Amino acid sequence: MSSEFAKYDTAAATPRLVSTRSSPVAARSKNASRQVILESSALKRVFAEAAQLAAVDVPILVTGESGTGKEVLARYIHDCSGNAPDRFCAVNCGAIPSHLLESTLFGHVKGAFTSADREARGLFREADGGTLFLDEVGELGAASQVALLRVLETKRVRPVGSSQEHAITVRIVSATNRDIEAMVERGLFRLDLYYRVAPVTLEIPPLRSRPEDVRRLTDVFLQQACERSGRAVPEVDPGLREALARYPWPGNARELRYVIERAFSVSAGGDVLRAAHLSERVRRAEHSQAADDIVRTCIAQSAHSVSLASRMARCEALIIEESLRKMNGCRTRAAAELGVPLRTFMRKVAKHGL
Ligand SMILES: Nc1ncnc2c1ncn2[C@@H]1O[C@H](COP(=O)(O)OP(=O)(O)O)[C@@H](O)[C@H]1O
Ligand SMILES: [Mg+2]
Repeated sequence: MSSEFAKYDTAAATPRLVSTRSSPVAARSKNASRQVILESSALKRVFAEAAQLAAVDVPILVTGESGTGKEVLARYIHDCSGNAPDRFCAVNCGAIPSHLLESTLFGHVKGAFTSADREARGLFREADGGTLFLDEVGELGAASQVALLRVLETKRVRPVGSSQEHAITVRIVSATNRDIEAMVERGLFRLDLYYRVAPVTLEIPPLRSRPEDVRRLTDVFLQQACERSGRAVPEVDPGLREALARYPWPGNARELRYVIERAFSVSAGGDVLRAAHLSERVRRAEHSQAADDIVRTCIAQSAHSVSLASRMARCEALIIEESLRKMNGCRTRAAAELGVPLRTFMRKVAKHGL
């Protein structure tokens, strides 16, 4: 199956830098790679849906683990929308102190607060006619949620310290790696804001469930690393492919990019990129993958419990159950595997009613 590249002009203008280098905004706008790899059918489906939605002015929430490509998808939506191409602003809601959030988003007038030595337009107005990407929207504090809700409802922003309001037309794409519906249920995220940012949700599946993308992204990241260093593209050893296929990619595509760049530099210009060029951690993934899977299952299955203590208890029960299953019910061996004295193990079995 041939891979599909989004029709991107790689020379297209990089998104505007809307603030200084040290700000979360500028730092995020620079690392944009405009090439989108869509190899797995799961990812093709998500991006196809996004392309259709792009034409409609509806806010979209993108969910998925860290590094799965949520920002890539947000840019893709913007590029498919037909809106002003250079008007894409990204902001990491979790990286802005709450007292600066309003001025960052809505701007401020000169002298509005001590450090406001000149006027700032704010990201909503910078993105006017384009897209504002609210990354990590689940990190917004209560006061910031209220302020954002007001702007999304009225489609007007009032800079901090100003009496004047400005009408804005901005497409909102938000992203989160948190279970925002659970946050709504627990009162951590306002329901009315949820309706405003998430009438439509697109979920990017984790990279470990998309082996075709691992293969293709490996080639692309390697090629990009070679282009940057002006070296010829090495051959990829099957052993390296196998190791990458086994690894569970907790950091998803971002981690894959890093792993490939690291392996490439360790290979120091050799003709073949091998498993030996990977870090110990990636090479040895096979051994820890089963454990990781248990932890992930535990986290998912205990999600309906609220307190940490009750979730930990549920996880403990699942781990013990899993170990007993693996050891065909032999308690001595299960206790040994988990590294707890048999008496402690028996007490826990009784406590959880296993
Ligand atoms: N489908 C994809 N095609 C090309 N690059 C991708 C793809 N998905 C993710 N990446 C790359 O992986 C890294 C993380 O992507 P990003 O969108 O920042 O993830 P997230 O916002 O979910 O944390 C970036 O370097 C990005 O270019
Ligand atoms: Mg991101």
